[in-house]
Amino acid sequence: MFPRFSLLLALSVLVTAAPVEHSTPDKRAVSTLSSSELTSFAPYTQFARAAYCSTSKLQGWKCGDACNALPGFQPTLIGGDGNAIQIFFVGFWPAQNSVVVAHEGTDPTQFVSVLTDLNILTDPLDTALFPGVPSNVLVHDGFRNAHALTATKILAEVKKLLAANNSKKVTLVGHSLGGALAELDALYMTLNLPSDVAIKAMTFGTPRVGNAAFAELIDSKVPDFKRINNKKDPVPTVPGRFLGFAQPEGEVHILGPGNAVSCSGNDDATDAQCQIQTVPNVFEGNILDHLGPYEGISIGTIFCT
Ligand SMILES: *[C@@H]1O[C@H](CO)[C@@H](O)[C@H](O)[C@H]1NC(C)=O
Repeated sequence: MFPRFSLLLALSVLVTAAPVEHSTPDKRAVSTLSSSELTSFAPYTQFARAAYCSTSKLQGWKCGDACNALPGFQPTLIGGDGNAIQIFFVGFWPAQNSVVVAHEGTDPTQFVSVLTDLNILTDPLDTALFPGVPSNVLVHDGFRNAHALTATKILAEVKKLLAANNSKKVTLVGHSLGGALAELDALYMTLNLPSDVAIKAMTFGTPRVGNAAFAELIDSKVPDFKRINNKKDPVPTVPGRFLGFAQPEGEVHILGPGNAVSCSGNDDATDAQCQIQTVPNVFEGNILDHLGPYEGISIGTIFCT
């Protein structure tokens, strides 16, 4: 589904097709996050981190530091194999009276090379899963297909837990490819659950998932959406805007320990503290920043400790 490409080949093609700015849109408003706001992200970061743990460690919630940081969480559906299907879990989080769905990400170097491929395919969403979404809404077809592999199974479990736990809240989290899957899940849950269920999505190091019409749909349907980017991570800047991709609102950019800004609007390269001007092209990115630390918490396979 995400075949290996030559990173250098993909990047060399990218340079010749670098985007050109034609207009100077209004600058995005940026505000500094308070330390309590930053601290409040930690449980979500730990859920995203836990999704990189093996299914055997997730059973019974024994995945080490990430699981210990979220006492009382009860996973009821764990699936995927970390290969053909990203690992995921669904469960109930008593501390927030919320059902939580988390998706694993993928190897970052390989991921960047796939996302800088100029022959990326975009497709409309399957209206059997996303009822009423118009055909001008396009998403990366690899993300769409990966999401579809587990969507109905996860939705059934979410419905069961909402009823069993008398909850009206669903939280979606993920990092990297897992962030893209969480973003698609956030829209999917919004369209398939009763309107009195609150949907919250928090993603980390998430690539662009779809076109501007998709980003606008996320903005309008999932208002409680945050995507947290770390320093010079190139992943949130791919696939390129020149290929028609766009990010939704809700950007938070970590500049350093205890220092993060909230960036208003969609990603349009108009503010120096937000992701695009920090990483104007993938060469200026640092893929290690993709792993964090997100306020002291690193996310990735090697950080399931
Ligand atoms: C939530 O529902 C699940 C599924 O029925 C159950 O196993 C779990 O004990 C419930 N949790 C709480 C805190 O009630």
